[in-house]
Amino acid sequence: MTSSSMATASPNGVHPTAEPERAAGTAGPEPILQLSDLRAGYGAIEVLHGIDLMVPAGGIFAVLGPNGAGKSTLLKVLAGLHPVSGGTIVMAGREVNRARPDDLARSGLCLIPEGRGVFANLTVEENLRLITHLGARPAEIEERTYARFPQLAVRRKQVAGTMSGGEQQMLALARSVATDPGLLLIDELSMGLAPRIVEMLYELVAEIARTGVTVIAVEQFARTILGIASSAVVITTGRVVLAGLPDEVESKLSGLYLGNVAD
Ligand SMILES: Nc1ncnc2c1ncn2[C@@H]1O[C@H](COP(=O)(O)OP(=O)(O)OP(=O)(O)O)[C@@H](O)[C@H]1O
Ligand SMILES: [Mg+2]
Repeated sequence: MTSSSMATASPNGVHPTAEPERAAGTAGPEPILQLSDLRAGYGAIEVLHGIDLMVPAGGIFAVLGPNGAGKSTLLKVLAGLHPVSGGTIVMAGREVNRARPDDLARSGLCLIPEGRGVFANLTVEENLRLITHLGARPAEIEERTYARFPQLAVRRKQVAGTMSGGEQQMLALARSVATDPGLLLIDELSMGLAPRIVEMLYELVAEIARTGVTVIAVEQFARTILGIASSAVVITTGRVVLAGLPDEVESKLSGLYLGNVAD
């Protein structure tokens, strides 16, 4: 099969309800994501220089690294928003190098981009109503969202851009949950927020992961995310320089990019 004919993700996609398949010759379940020598860049400048990565299904996978390491580029490539220039992305058993963002979204992938992943000029309610193209009725989506995130119910008529940074990120999380994702990519949820708020948001992320959603969380500051992650990698200048259990990664981090880990 050519890569283009494989571009449309499987009907079950990355959803946790999919039957756990086993990769040929391996003992464990198939990884939700496998990157081999993944390369990408901007124009002639390569930014990701051959990323090899295996993300198991379930749990929180932390991607750490300093400014300019290529973390956001990696997430954009995974979401189909930026082209792959070399290597392969295999998602839930399918090569998706050239999959379109909407195909990936339909198969269960959701990206919360860097900054606030909300429509700043729309109210909370309107932000939630924009998700209805995925099938559920607006009232249902709102009801489920407010039950899970009661703080958003209080703010339902408020324009998202006027909410606090933490509330906006909570809305971004709520919108992503409403799309019923199997694989959730989050780019620096903590940006510009106080540690207390970051902890509250990551507790919500941990709850989302407990429902079976695999989360890949990019963070520049390590402490909070390593406390809830099941595994972690560190990327510096477009290469994976460290991978392992959160404790192992944490103990070696300061030597890699001292100064960036003290949050
Ligand atoms: N649109 C673009 N055009 C050209 N170069 C870009 C573009 N976006 C990013 N880059 C470059 O690619 C490299 C990786 O950027 P990227 O945003 O992926 O890093 P990052 O790890 O997310 O950094 P940060 O922690 O600051 O968000 C940087 O050198 C950046 O300047
Ligand atoms: Mg970034």
